[in-house]
Amino acid sequence: MVRPARNVRGRVGLPGDKSISHRYAMLAGIAEGPSRLENYSTGADCASTLGCMRSLGVEWERKDGEDNTIEVKGRGLALAAPACALDCGNSGSTMRMLSGIVAGQKFTSEMVGDESLSRRPMERVIRPLSAMGAQISSQEGRPPLRVAGGELKAIDYKMPVASAQVKTCLLFAGLFAEGETRIEEPMRTRDHGEVALRAFGVQLDRRSVGQGSEARIRGGQGLRGIEACIPGDLSSAAFFLCAAALFPGSQLTIPNLLMNPTRARLLDILMQMGLRISVTQLDEIHGEVVGTLQVEGGALKGAAIAGADSAALIDEIPVMAAIAPYTEQGIEVRDAKELRVKESDRIAAVATNLRLMGAQVEEREDGLKIPGGQRLHGAEIDSFGDHRIAMAFAVAALRARGETMIRGAEAAGISYPAFFQTLEDLSER
Ligand code: S3P
Repeated sequence: MVRPARNVRGRVGLPGDKSISHRYAMLAGIAEGPSRLENYSTGADCASTLGCMRSLGVEWERKDGEDNTIEVKGRGLALAAPACALDCGNSGSTMRMLSGIVAGQKFTSEMVGDESLSRRPMERVIRPLSAMGAQISSQEGRPPLRVAGGELKAIDYKMPVASAQVKTCLLFAGLFAEGETRIEEPMRTRDHGEVALRAFGVQLDRRSVGQGSEARIRGGQGLRGIEACIPGDLSSAAFFLCAAALFPGSQLTIPNLLMNPTRARLLDILMQMGLRISVTQLDEIHGEVVGTLQVEGGALKGAAIAGADSAALIDEIPVMAAIAPYTEQGIEVRDAKELRVKESDRIAAVATNLRLMGAQVEEREDGLKIPGGQRLHGAEIDSFGDHRIAMAFAVAALRARGETMIRGAEAAGISYPAFFQTLEDLSER
Protein backbone atom coordinates (compact mmCIF):
# COMPACT_ATOMS: atom_id res chain seq x y z
CA MET A 1 0.00 0.00 0.00
CA VAL A 2 1.60 3.29 -1.03
CA ARG A 3 0.37 6.57 0.46
CA PRO A 4 0.83 9.88 -1.34
CA ALA A 5 3.81 12.00 -0.23
CA ARG A 6 4.49 15.73 0.00
CA ASN A 7 8.12 15.43 -0.94
CA VAL A 8 11.15 13.10 -1.07
CA ARG A 9 14.43 13.90 0.64
CA GLY A 10 17.50 12.09 1.89
CA ARG A 11 20.37 9.80 1.01
CA VAL A 12 19.71 6.78 -1.19
CA GLY A 13 21.47 3.45 -0.54
CA LEU A 14 21.41 1.29 -3.66
CA PRO A 15 22.08 -2.39 -4.33
CA GLY A 16 25.08 -3.19 -6.51
CA ASP A 17 24.33 -2.98 -10.21
CA LYS A 18 22.45 -6.05 -11.44
CA SER A 19 24.04 -6.17 -14.90
CA ILE A 20 27.56 -5.95 -13.51
CA SER A 21 26.90 -8.39 -10.65
CA HIS A 22 25.76 -11.12 -13.08
CA ARG A 23 28.76 -10.64 -15.33
CA TYR A 24 31.31 -10.51 -12.50
CA ALA A 25 29.87 -13.67 -10.89
CA MET A 26 30.08 -15.58 -14.16
CA LEU A 27 33.56 -14.36 -15.09
CA ALA A 28 34.89 -14.87 -11.54
CA GLY A 29 33.74 -18.50 -11.84
CA ILE A 30 35.76 -19.13 -15.01
CA ALA A 31 38.78 -17.06 -13.92
CA GLU A 32 42.01 -18.44 -12.47
CA GLY A 33 42.32 -17.62 -8.79
CA PRO A 34 39.97 -15.98 -6.30
CA SER A 35 37.75 -12.93 -6.78
CA ARG A 36 36.23 -10.71 -4.14
CA LEU A 37 33.05 -8.89 -5.13
CA GLU A 38 31.85 -6.20 -2.71
CA ASN A 39 28.35 -4.70 -2.93
CA TYR A 40 27.09 -7.65 -4.98
CA SER A 41 23.44 -7.10 -5.98
CA THR A 42 21.00 -8.19 -3.26
CA GLY A 43 18.33 -9.03 -5.87
CA ALA A 44 17.01 -12.56 -6.39
CA ASP A 45 18.15 -12.52 -10.04
CA CYS A 46 21.81 -12.25 -9.13
CA ALA A 47 21.33 -14.97 -6.50
CA SER A 48 20.06 -17.17 -9.37
CA THR A 49 23.34 -16.61 -11.20
CA LEU A 50 25.33 -17.57 -8.10
CA GLY A 51 23.18 -20.69 -7.67
CA CYS A 52 23.87 -21.75 -11.26
CA MET A 53 27.61 -21.16 -10.83
CA ARG A 54 27.57 -23.40 -7.74
CA SER A 55 25.78 -26.12 -9.75
CA LEU A 56 28.61 -25.80 -12.30
CA GLY A 57 31.19 -26.58 -9.61
CA VAL A 58 32.22 -23.05 -8.66
CA GLU A 59 32.76 -22.55 -4.93
CA TRP A 60 31.80 -19.19 -3.46
CA GLU A 61 30.76 -17.81 -0.12
CA ARG A 62 29.17 -14.73 1.36
CA LYS A 63 31.40 -12.92 3.86
CA ASP A 64 29.50 -12.56 7.13
CA GLY A 65 29.17 -9.06 8.49
CA GLU A 66 30.53 -7.43 5.34
CA ASP A 67 28.05 -5.68 3.14
CA ASN A 68 27.09 -8.14 0.44
CA THR A 69 30.60 -9.32 -0.22
CA ILE A 70 31.01 -12.57 -2.14
CA GLU A 71 34.26 -14.48 -2.46
CA VAL A 72 34.47 -16.73 -5.49
CA LYS A 73 37.07 -19.44 -6.14
CA GLY A 74 37.59 -19.39 -9.87
CA ARG A 75 38.05 -22.78 -11.45
CA GLY A 76 39.33 -21.69 -14.84
CA LEU A 77 37.54 -22.14 -18.15
CA ALA A 78 36.54 -25.77 -17.50
CA LEU A 79 33.45 -26.03 -15.31
CA ALA A 80 31.96 -29.21 -13.80
CA ALA A 81 28.96 -31.01 -15.28
CA PRO A 82 25.89 -30.03 -13.20
CA ALA A 83 24.03 -32.77 -11.32
CA CYS A 84 20.70 -30.98 -11.78
CA ALA A 85 19.08 -28.38 -14.03
CA LEU A 86 20.50 -24.85 -13.84
CA ASP A 87 17.69 -22.85 -12.24
CA CYS A 88 17.69 -19.32 -13.69
CA GLY A 89 14.55 -18.31 -11.75
CA ASN A 90 13.11 -15.09 -13.21
CA SER A 91 16.41 -14.02 -14.72
CA GLY A 92 16.69 -13.66 -18.49
CA SER A 93 20.21 -12.29 -18.00
CA THR A 94 21.29 -15.50 -16.26
CA MET A 95 19.89 -17.80 -18.91
CA ARG A 96 21.06 -15.82 -21.91
CA MET A 97 24.55 -14.88 -20.74
CA LEU A 98 25.35 -18.20 -19.05
CA SER A 99 24.27 -20.10 -22.16
CA GLY A 100 27.38 -18.61 -23.83
CA ILE A 101 29.60 -20.17 -21.16
CA VAL A 102 27.94 -23.60 -20.96
CA ALA A 103 28.00 -23.79 -24.78
CA GLY A 104 31.79 -23.98 -24.50
CA GLN A 105 31.82 -26.84 -21.93
CA LYS A 106 32.30 -30.53 -22.64
CA PHE A 107 28.97 -31.52 -21.09
CA THR A 108 25.26 -30.95 -21.46
CA SER A 109 23.38 -28.43 -19.32
CA GLU A 110 19.67 -28.06 -18.83
CA MET A 111 18.57 -24.45 -18.15
CA VAL A 112 15.17 -23.79 -16.62
CA GLY A 113 13.28 -20.74 -15.42
CA ASP A 114 10.05 -19.65 -13.74
CA GLU A 115 6.77 -19.11 -15.55
CA SER A 116 7.68 -15.64 -16.80
CA LEU A 117 11.15 -16.65 -18.01
CA SER A 118 9.65 -19.74 -19.68
CA ARG A 119 7.69 -17.43 -21.98
CA ARG A 120 10.69 -15.33 -23.06
CA PRO A 121 12.40 -15.60 -26.46
CA MET A 122 15.71 -17.51 -26.52
CA GLU A 123 16.02 -17.85 -30.32
CA ARG A 124 18.27 -14.81 -30.21
CA VAL A 125 20.99 -16.80 -28.41
CA ILE A 126 20.14 -20.26 -29.80
CA ARG A 127 20.72 -19.26 -33.42
CA PRO A 128 24.23 -17.76 -33.11
CA LEU A 129 25.41 -20.30 -30.52
CA SER A 130 24.28 -23.08 -32.85
CA ALA A 131 26.23 -21.41 -35.66
CA MET A 132 29.29 -21.62 -33.39
CA GLY A 133 28.76 -25.37 -32.99
CA ALA A 134 26.66 -25.82 -29.83
CA GLN A 135 23.64 -28.10 -29.98
CA ILE A 136 20.66 -26.52 -28.31
CA SER A 137 17.10 -27.71 -27.99
CA SER A 138 14.22 -25.60 -26.64
CA GLN A 139 10.44 -25.42 -26.53
CA GLU A 140 9.95 -23.65 -29.85
CA GLY A 141 12.57 -21.05 -29.02
CA ARG A 142 11.63 -20.76 -25.33
CA PRO A 143 13.00 -22.31 -22.13
CA PRO A 144 13.82 -24.88 -20.91
CA LEU A 145 17.04 -25.05 -22.92
CA ARG A 146 19.22 -28.11 -23.26
CA VAL A 147 22.70 -27.02 -24.25
CA ALA A 148 25.13 -29.68 -25.45
CA GLY A 149 28.42 -27.81 -25.36
CA GLY A 150 31.67 -28.69 -27.05
CA GLU A 151 34.24 -27.36 -29.46
CA LEU A 152 33.11 -23.97 -30.67
CA LYS A 153 34.27 -22.07 -33.72
CA ALA A 154 34.43 -18.31 -33.95
CA ILE A 155 31.71 -16.41 -35.82
CA ASP A 156 31.29 -13.05 -37.40
CA TYR A 157 27.78 -12.08 -36.32
CA LYS A 158 25.61 -9.05 -36.85
CA MET A 159 22.89 -9.14 -34.23
CA PRO A 160 19.38 -8.50 -35.59
CA VAL A 161 18.10 -7.29 -32.17
CA ALA A 162 19.94 -4.71 -30.06
CA SER A 163 20.49 -6.72 -26.85
CA ALA A 164 23.34 -6.45 -24.38
CA GLN A 165 22.48 -9.89 -23.02
CA VAL A 166 22.93 -11.48 -26.44
CA LYS A 167 26.12 -9.51 -27.14
CA THR A 168 27.59 -10.60 -23.80
CA CYS A 169 26.51 -14.22 -24.32
CA LEU A 170 28.36 -14.34 -27.65
CA LEU A 171 31.50 -12.64 -26.33
CA PHE A 172 31.57 -15.16 -23.48
CA ALA A 173 31.15 -17.99 -26.00
CA GLY A 174 33.95 -16.40 -28.04
CA LEU A 175 36.32 -17.11 -25.14
CA PHE A 176 35.84 -20.84 -25.80
CA ALA A 177 35.91 -20.67 -29.60
CA GLU A 178 38.72 -21.33 -31.99
CA GLY A 179 39.63 -18.13 -33.81
CA GLU A 180 38.41 -14.56 -33.47
CA THR A 181 34.72 -13.86 -32.86
CA ARG A 182 33.30 -10.56 -34.09
CA ILE A 183 29.96 -9.30 -32.80
CA GLU A 184 28.25 -6.25 -34.24
CA GLU A 185 25.25 -4.58 -32.64
CA PRO A 186 22.89 -2.36 -34.67
CA MET A 187 22.36 0.08 -31.80
CA ARG A 188 24.65 0.79 -28.89
CA THR A 189 23.63 -1.15 -25.77
CA ARG A 190 25.21 -1.33 -22.32
CA ASP A 191 28.85 -2.37 -22.56
CA HIS A 192 29.37 -4.02 -19.17
CA GLY A 193 30.26 -7.32 -20.86
CA GLU A 194 33.12 -5.73 -22.79
CA VAL A 195 34.29 -3.70 -19.76
CA ALA A 196 34.11 -6.71 -17.40
CA LEU A 197 36.02 -8.99 -19.78
CA ARG A 198 38.84 -6.45 -19.88
CA ALA A 199 38.75 -6.13 -16.08
CA PHE A 200 39.36 -9.89 -15.84
CA GLY A 201 42.39 -9.52 -18.12
CA VAL A 202 40.88 -10.47 -21.48
CA GLN A 203 42.05 -8.66 -24.61
CA LEU A 204 39.16 -7.33 -26.62
CA ASP A 205 38.99 -4.80 -29.45
CA ARG A 206 36.01 -2.51 -29.81
CA ARG A 207 34.94 0.36 -32.03
CA SER A 208 31.82 2.28 -33.00
CA VAL A 209 30.00 1.25 -36.17
CA GLY A 210 27.24 3.65 -37.19
CA GLN A 211 24.80 3.92 -34.27
CA GLY A 212 26.10 0.64 -32.89
CA SER A 213 29.45 -0.98 -32.21
CA GLU A 214 31.58 -4.05 -32.83
CA ALA A 215 33.71 -6.13 -30.49
CA ARG A 216 36.32 -8.75 -31.37
CA ILE A 217 37.57 -11.41 -29.02
CA ARG A 218 40.11 -14.21 -29.54
CA GLY A 219 39.29 -17.62 -28.10
CA GLY A 220 41.43 -19.48 -25.56
CA GLN A 221 42.33 -16.47 -23.40
CA GLY A 222 42.60 -17.08 -19.67
CA LEU A 223 40.97 -14.80 -17.10
CA ARG A 224 42.39 -13.69 -13.77
CA GLY A 225 40.30 -13.02 -10.65
CA ILE A 226 39.62 -9.45 -9.47
CA GLU A 227 38.79 -7.51 -6.33
CA ALA A 228 35.97 -5.13 -7.03
CA CYS A 229 33.34 -2.96 -5.41
CA ILE A 230 30.24 -3.03 -7.61
CA PRO A 231 28.73 0.43 -8.29
CA GLY A 232 25.13 1.22 -7.23
CA ASP A 233 22.50 0.18 -9.76
CA LEU A 234 21.44 3.06 -12.01
CA SER A 235 18.22 1.32 -13.07
CA SER A 236 17.28 1.03 -9.38
CA ALA A 237 18.25 4.68 -8.81
CA ALA A 238 15.86 5.56 -11.66
CA PHE A 239 12.88 5.07 -9.34
CA PHE A 240 14.19 7.65 -6.88
CA LEU A 241 15.31 10.03 -9.61
CA CYS A 242 11.79 9.94 -11.04
CA ALA A 243 10.30 10.32 -7.55
CA ALA A 244 12.49 13.41 -7.07
CA ALA A 245 11.30 14.74 -10.44
CA LEU A 246 7.71 14.67 -9.12
CA PHE A 247 8.34 17.25 -6.35
CA PRO A 248 9.78 20.74 -6.98
CA GLY A 249 11.36 20.86 -3.48
CA SER A 250 12.90 17.37 -3.48
CA GLN A 251 16.54 16.79 -2.57
CA LEU A 252 18.40 13.50 -2.86
CA THR A 253 22.01 12.44 -2.47
CA ILE A 254 22.95 9.27 -4.33
CA PRO A 255 26.46 8.04 -3.52
CA ASN A 256 28.41 5.34 -5.39
CA LEU A 257 26.17 5.44 -8.45
CA LEU A 258 27.08 3.67 -11.69
CA MET A 259 27.42 6.33 -14.38
CA ASN A 260 28.62 4.27 -17.34
CA PRO A 261 27.73 6.40 -20.42
CA THR A 262 25.89 3.48 -22.05
CA ARG A 263 23.52 3.47 -19.05
CA ALA A 264 23.32 7.14 -18.10
CA ARG A 265 21.00 8.47 -20.81
CA LEU A 266 18.28 8.74 -18.14
CA LEU A 267 20.25 11.50 -16.44
CA ASP A 268 20.34 13.61 -19.63
CA ILE A 269 16.64 13.15 -20.28
CA LEU A 270 15.60 13.93 -16.70
CA MET A 271 17.78 17.07 -16.76
CA GLN A 272 16.13 18.16 -20.03
CA MET A 273 12.80 17.63 -18.29
CA GLY A 274 13.78 19.94 -15.44
CA LEU A 275 15.46 17.82 -12.74
CA ARG A 276 18.65 19.45 -11.44
CA ILE A 277 21.51 16.98 -11.13
CA SER A 278 25.10 17.68 -10.18
CA VAL A 279 27.95 15.21 -9.86
CA THR A 280 30.10 15.91 -6.83
CA GLN A 281 32.56 13.04 -7.07
CA LEU A 282 33.67 10.86 -9.95
CA ASP A 283 35.82 7.72 -9.90
CA GLU A 284 36.62 4.78 -12.11
CA ILE A 285 36.62 1.19 -10.86
CA HIS A 286 37.65 -1.59 -13.25
CA GLY A 287 36.63 0.55 -16.22
CA GLU A 288 33.22 1.51 -14.80
CA VAL A 289 32.52 5.18 -13.96
CA VAL A 290 31.04 5.82 -10.51
CA GLY A 291 29.83 9.12 -9.07
CA THR A 292 27.94 10.84 -6.28
CA LEU A 293 24.85 12.72 -7.41
CA GLN A 294 23.02 15.65 -5.82
CA VAL A 295 19.49 15.85 -7.16
CA GLU A 296 16.87 18.62 -6.83
CA GLY A 297 13.39 18.70 -8.26
CA GLY A 298 12.25 21.63 -10.43
CA ALA A 299 9.94 21.84 -13.42
CA LEU A 300 8.68 18.60 -14.99
CA LYS A 301 8.53 18.99 -18.74
CA GLY A 302 7.68 16.23 -21.18
CA ALA A 303 9.93 14.03 -23.31
CA ALA A 304 10.01 12.00 -26.52
CA ILE A 305 11.92 8.73 -26.40
CA ALA A 306 12.69 6.96 -29.68
CA GLY A 307 15.40 5.19 -31.70
CA ALA A 308 18.73 4.79 -29.93
CA ASP A 309 17.25 6.33 -26.75
CA SER A 310 14.69 3.55 -26.50
CA ALA A 311 17.47 0.94 -26.51
CA ALA A 312 19.53 2.95 -24.03
CA LEU A 313 16.60 3.49 -21.64
CA ILE A 314 14.95 0.09 -21.99
CA ASP A 315 14.79 -0.66 -18.24
CA GLU A 316 13.90 2.91 -17.24
CA ILE A 317 10.97 3.45 -19.62
CA PRO A 318 8.37 1.87 -17.27
CA VAL A 319 9.03 4.39 -14.50
CA MET A 320 9.29 7.31 -16.93
CA ALA A 321 5.95 6.29 -18.40
CA ALA A 322 4.46 5.92 -14.92
CA ILE A 323 5.25 9.58 -14.09
CA ALA A 324 4.33 10.85 -17.57
CA PRO A 325 0.79 12.02 -16.65
CA TYR A 326 2.31 14.42 -14.09
CA THR A 327 4.61 16.05 -16.66
CA GLU A 328 3.67 19.26 -18.46
CA GLN A 329 3.71 17.96 -22.06
CA GLY A 330 3.47 14.20 -21.55
CA ILE A 331 5.82 11.45 -22.72
CA GLU A 332 5.85 9.59 -26.00
CA VAL A 333 7.78 6.32 -26.37
CA ARG A 334 8.48 4.74 -29.77
CA ASP A 335 10.75 1.94 -31.10
CA ALA A 336 10.48 0.04 -27.82
CA LYS A 337 8.71 -3.17 -28.77
CA GLU A 338 11.36 -5.15 -26.84
CA LEU A 339 9.40 -4.01 -23.76
CA ARG A 340 6.71 -6.51 -24.72
CA VAL A 341 9.06 -9.47 -24.08
CA LYS A 342 10.57 -8.44 -20.75
CA GLU A 343 9.58 -10.00 -17.39
CA SER A 344 6.05 -8.92 -18.36
CA ASP A 345 4.62 -7.15 -21.38
CA ARG A 346 5.68 -3.81 -19.97
CA ILE A 347 3.80 -1.70 -22.53
CA ALA A 348 0.50 -3.40 -21.66
CA ALA A 349 1.27 -3.41 -17.92
CA VAL A 350 1.99 0.34 -17.85
CA ALA A 351 -1.12 1.17 -19.90
CA THR A 352 -3.39 -1.03 -17.73
CA ASN A 353 -2.15 0.39 -14.44
CA LEU A 354 -2.17 4.01 -15.58
CA ARG A 355 -5.76 3.63 -16.78
CA LEU A 356 -6.77 2.09 -13.45
CA MET A 357 -5.34 5.20 -11.81
CA GLY A 358 -7.49 7.37 -14.06
CA ALA A 359 -5.02 8.37 -16.77
CA GLN A 360 -5.56 8.63 -20.47
CA VAL A 361 -3.04 6.51 -22.38
CA GLU A 362 -2.55 5.57 -25.99
CA GLU A 363 -0.99 2.11 -26.29
CA ARG A 364 0.90 1.26 -29.48
CA GLU A 365 2.65 -1.86 -30.70
CA ASP A 366 6.10 -0.34 -30.08
CA GLY A 367 5.38 2.19 -27.33
CA LEU A 368 3.01 4.55 -25.58
CA LYS A 369 1.74 8.09 -25.81
CA ILE A 370 0.79 9.56 -22.45
CA PRO A 371 -0.52 13.13 -22.32
CA GLY A 372 0.73 15.41 -19.55
CA GLY A 373 -1.19 17.57 -17.10
CA GLN A 374 -3.29 14.68 -15.77
CA ARG A 375 -4.27 13.97 -12.18
CA LEU A 376 -4.22 10.37 -10.99
CA HIS A 377 -6.08 8.70 -8.17
CA GLY A 378 -5.06 5.75 -6.02
CA ALA A 379 -6.28 2.37 -7.22
CA GLU A 380 -5.76 -1.36 -6.85
CA ILE A 381 -3.18 -2.30 -9.45
CA ASP A 382 -0.92 -5.25 -10.28
CA SER A 383 2.82 -5.75 -10.67
CA PHE A 384 2.16 -8.50 -13.24
CA GLY A 385 4.93 -10.34 -11.39
CA ASP A 386 7.41 -7.78 -12.74
CA HIS A 387 9.83 -5.99 -10.40
CA ARG A 388 10.11 -2.83 -12.49
CA ILE A 389 6.34 -2.48 -12.81
CA ALA A 390 5.90 -2.82 -9.03
CA MET A 391 8.50 -0.12 -8.34
CA ALA A 392 7.41 2.21 -11.17
CA PHE A 393 3.87 2.38 -9.82
CA ALA A 394 5.00 2.88 -6.23
CA VAL A 395 6.58 6.08 -7.58
CA ALA A 396 3.47 7.11 -9.54
CA ALA A 397 1.41 6.52 -6.36
CA LEU A 398 3.38 9.18 -4.48
CA ARG A 399 1.51 11.94 -6.28
CA ALA A 400 -1.88 10.28 -6.72
CA ARG A 401 -4.95 11.26 -4.73
CA GLY A 402 -5.53 8.51 -2.16
CA GLU A 403 -3.75 5.24 -1.50
CA THR A 404 -2.57 2.76 -4.10
CA MET A 405 -2.54 -0.97 -3.50
CA ILE A 406 0.03 -2.86 -5.58
CA ARG A 407 -0.68 -6.58 -5.84
CA GLY A 408 2.43 -8.75 -6.19
CA ALA A 409 4.63 -5.90 -4.94
CA GLU A 410 7.11 -8.47 -3.59
CA ALA A 411 8.34 -8.82 -7.19
CA ALA A 412 10.60 -5.84 -6.35
CA GLY A 413 12.89 -8.36 -4.64
CA ILE A 414 14.05 -9.56 -8.06
CA SER A 415 16.36 -6.56 -8.28
CA TYR A 416 15.86 -4.50 -5.10
CA PRO A 417 14.58 -6.21 -1.93
CA ALA A 418 14.90 -3.05 0.21
CA PHE A 419 13.06 -0.81 -2.28
CA PHE A 420 9.82 -0.19 -0.38
CA GLN A 421 11.64 0.50 2.89
CA THR A 422 14.00 2.93 1.17
CA LEU A 423 11.10 4.70 -0.55
CA GLU A 424 9.27 4.99 2.78
CA ASP A 425 12.37 6.41 4.48
CA LEU A 426 12.73 9.10 1.81
CA SER A 427 9.06 10.09 1.64
CA GLU A 428 7.80 13.12 3.58
CA ARG A 429 4.11 13.25 4.37
C1 S3P B 1 20.56 -6.39 -19.54
C2 S3P B 1 20.15 -6.03 -20.80
C3 S3P B 1 18.77 -5.65 -21.10
C4 S3P B 1 17.98 -5.31 -19.87
C5 S3P B 1 18.18 -6.30 -18.75
C6 S3P B 1 19.66 -6.40 -18.39
C7 S3P B 1 21.97 -6.78 -19.35
O1 S3P B 1 18.13 -6.73 -21.75
O2 S3P B 1 16.62 -5.18 -20.15
O3 S3P B 1 17.46 -5.88 -17.61
O4 S3P B 1 22.43 -6.87 -18.20
O5 S3P B 1 22.64 -6.99 -20.35
P1 S3P B 1 18.32 -7.00 -23.32
O6 S3P B 1 19.74 -7.20 -23.57
O7 S3P B 1 17.54 -8.24 -23.61
O8 S3P B 1 17.73 -5.78 -23.97
